[in-house]
Amino acid sequence: MLEPSAKQLQIFLDIASEAVLSAGAILQDYWGNVQAIEEKGRSGDLVTEADKKAEAVLIHVLQTHFSEHGILAEESGKLGDTQSPYLWAIDPLDGTTNFAHAYPLSTVSVGLLIEKVPVVGVVYDPFRNELFRAAKGLGATCNRRPIQVSQTSELSKSLLVTGFAYDRRETTDNNYAEFCYLTHLTQGVRRSGSAALDLVNVACGRLDGYWERGIKPWDMAAGIVLVEEAGGKVSAYDGSSFILESGRILATNGKLHNSLSEALQKTPSLASWDKEIS
Ligand code: IPD
Ligand code: CA
Ligand code: CA
Repeated sequence: MLEPSAKQLQIFLDIASEAVLSAGAILQDYWGNVQAIEEKGRSGDLVTEADKKAEAVLIHVLQTHFSEHGILAEESGKLGDTQSPYLWAIDPLDGTTNFAHAYPLSTVSVGLLIEKVPVVGVVYDPFRNELFRAAKGLGATCNRRPIQVSQTSELSKSLLVTGFAYDRRETTDNNYAEFCYLTHLTQGVRRSGSAALDLVNVACGRLDGYWERGIKPWDMAAGIVLVEEAGGKVSAYDGSSFILESGRILATNGKLHNSLSEALQKTPSLASWDKEIS
């Protein structure tokens, strides 16, 4: 695999940071005044003018500095040299539904994959003014301070987070059963509406674990690097190697990984809850 030097990684981090901060400023300008809300293919899958403007800024900054790299952008698709081993997976507004409702939980997420492996991740939360950065081997930070995953080792003491993909009305594999089961076993399961925010909150120890199905490379590429560099673990639900295209991710502080993986694999059906509670 191509091994970028620490100096190269630092450059990637700095340019990605410039990009997310510029996109974040656009989101702040649109905040509370979101017009032109459109529905993409699926019911509830929204895109606003803010998504498009913020994405244009991300693309401009990345293409200015890395014209030879590929880009996979949520709203624009594949751009640049998609044969390049370097691919930027970008989400200009992760948490569009929240943003459209003026609910202040959204992020800008920029991850760099080298030969399909996430190696650089930068996520910006414009509402808390928190900039999360990580690169393989260089650790993870929030506003330049090192961050670490939590130490929670028992599910019964954990606080988790998950999400529900836009195809949830079209499939019974929609995470509803898992949500019920883990709510039962833990101190709680949150649903923020921004996968990138969920991952960085695991990275900095505010949450102990996250799982979700049906999500895209731009939702998670950056956050994966943050979790791993903060000492956590990322895998498929069953603990096997994570595959970005599978859209199914389990990310934890590491200590909880096996028990959460086991719970996800033996989740009872929704129908069994009537019996459980009565
Ligand atoms: C969504 C958010 C949400 C997750 C969805 C994603 P968007 O991204 O990350 O938390 O549950 O699966 O599609 O549409 O707000 O960019
Ligand atoms: Ca997203
Ligand atoms: Ca988005």
